[in-house]
Amino acid sequence: MIGRLNHVAIAVPDLHAAAAQYRDTLGAEVGAPQDEPDHGVTVIFITLPNTKIELLHPLGPDSPIRAFLDKNPSGGIHHICYEVADIRAARDHLTAAGARVLGNGDPRIGAHGKPVLFLHPKDFAGTLIELEQA
Ligand code: CO
Repeated sequence: MIGRLNHVAIAVPDLHAAAAQYRDTLGAEVGAPQDEPDHGVTVIFITLPNTKIELLHPLGPDSPIRAFLDKNPSGGIHHICYEVADIRAARDHLTAAGARVLGNGDPRIGAHGKPVLFLHPKDFAGTLIELEQA
């Protein structure tokens, strides 16, 4: 059911330092910061030949990644995102199999303007999984 790895998201305490490291030290193609107020994050996408890296930084006081950074002050891998062809069909299949979808279960529009869902990390080996309709 899942397709390509769309991106790996890394929560970072200093967005500009992390972007500079990817651009200048690792030699990657680094995009511009984008505020995502609906998700409480500012993101920078890094384009690699086979996938993307999403640098995440809290935006606003209720950011869902603030607690993650409190526990991981130097940053860390926050989630991985797999592509699916039909996000509602994927959700129905997963919930029938006992997996928990975060929030109210309805897809939201993610950072690429496409519908996304998040799956509970306790159901997937401690890894927060984002599904994005490709
Ligand atoms: Co993501």
